[in-house]
Amino acid sequence: MDISLKRITDDNQIRELALVANEVWHEFFPCILSDEQIDYMVEKFQSYDAMKKQMEDGYEYFFIMAGEKICGYMGIHEETDDNKMFLSKLYLLKENRGKGYAGKTLKKLFDMTKERGLNMVWLTVNKYNEHTIKVYEHMGFAKARTQVADIGNGFVMDDYIMEKTF
Ligand SMILES: CC(C)(COP(=O)(O)OP(=O)(O)OC[C@H]1O[C@@H](n2cnc3c(N)ncnc32)[C@H](O)[C@@H]1OP(=O)(O)O)[C@@H](O)C(=O)NCCC(=O)NCCS
Repeated sequence: MDISLKRITDDNQIRELALVANEVWHEFFPCILSDEQIDYMVEKFQSYDAMKKQMEDGYEYFFIMAGEKICGYMGIHEETDDNKMFLSKLYLLKENRGKGYAGKTLKKLFDMTKERGLNMVWLTVNKYNEHTIKVYEHMGFAKARTQVADIGNGFVMDDYIMEKTF
């Protein structure tokens, strides 16, 4: 099945987005992060207030839709000065994984990036998120470097930075 990207614009959609994010993060990340870190990161980066602020600061969020069904979401930020697109978030609800939806979403993102005249998509991914790293490599991203980011409260994000150039 094909997917479409639905731009998130109003408050009700941001509230729904926060519910989807909360579900995915608490379902997926316990294999990599502690419950305390997941709670902290969801509040700091994926709550209604956090995402509302991000959108005011130029972040764009989209629901990934299969027909009328929300399957997941993508968050991006255009870095015009550097000619780059930052893929900030790509998450599918569990029942929608393994169906090619992420591949289709990434292809749409690549088209969008080229249409905007940008020449790179980059992202951060947890070093232990093995399946996701394989998916990104399959889609043409390469590991550029590692990054340990202090996110407060004694927590760090231990990531690879991956890039795909056009
Ligand atoms: C990461 C995530 C979005 C990927 O979605 P997915 O449904 O698993 O991936 P897809 O089925 O769309 O596969 C995408 C492509 O990767 C390929 N692929 C899948 N698993 C692969 C593997 N182990 N090795 C190589 N290629 C693989 C697929 O064949 C597909 O390629 P195609 O479009 O050429 O057919 C999804 O697993 C997810 O939401 N995970 C939990 C949250 C998360 O970690 N998000 C990313 C944070 S950085």
